[in-house]
Amino acid sequence: MERCGIVIAALAAAGIGAALAARSEEARPDITSEAFRNQFIKDFKHISLDTTAGDAMFLRIMVEASGAKRGIEVGAARAFGAINMGIAFERNGGRLWTVEIDPDMVKAARENLAAVGLEKTVTVVEGDALKVLGGMEGEYDFVFLDAVKSDYLKYLKLVEKKLKPGSVVVADNVIRSAKAVQDFLDYLQNSPDYDTVIIRASMEKNDGMSVSYKKR
Ligand SMILES: C[S@@+](CC[C@H](N)C(=O)[O-])C[C@H]1O[C@@H](n2cnc3c(N)ncnc32)[C@H](O)[C@@H]1O
Repeated sequence: MERCGIVIAALAAAGIGAALAARSEEARPDITSEAFRNQFIKDFKHISLDTTAGDAMFLRIMVEASGAKRGIEVGAARAFGAINMGIAFERNGGRLWTVEIDPDMVKAARENLAAVGLEKTVTVVEGDALKVLGGMEGEYDFVFLDAVKSDYLKYLKLVEKKLKPGSVVVADNVIRSAKAVQDFLDYLQNSPDYDTVIIRASMEKNDGMSVSYKKR
């Protein structure tokens, strides 16, 4: 009888344990789910440095549609663009490296990426892109330039040899910072190796992006 009581108590405890585990499972959302990530992106409190939602979605579509597997972003800020591109790189089975010089931004970027479970797909590289890019190993097929506008050509030159034919190079703010990026645009538009178009992107920022396809 006493033994029976112990068994009943043990079963009850196991039942409570299972119920508690199930409840805590319910309370803990799947941060990698599409719904969770969409909500995170929707609730993101933008500061002026962050890419706009529309531009970030454009980047995501570019990565996914081009099937890119290895990307570089220059200028992560708080990783709003990197989260959007990271979702596409994850779907492509690829990875993104995003370079950021400001330690506070690096911290915020890493926290935001971890909050949506993208920390393995997107690596935040802390440092000055002008020093870091030359040392990045391997080949790449997608680049997003978004740091110092007058350095865009330098960034491109530092990664250009690592870019496979079929790579896509996107650069932000080329309308409002047209003067600062003039050498960069001249280079791309006069090179036989690239097809380049300038598109109006963010309506909010009244700005645009250049999109280049590396043919060879
Ligand atoms: C416009 S914000 C980037 C926005 C980001 N791409 C996004 O999608 O939200 C530019 C960032 O470039 C960083 N930056 C400026 N100079 C840099 C450099 N030499 N190397 C790396 N990052 C740099 C700034 O600290 C800043 O966070």
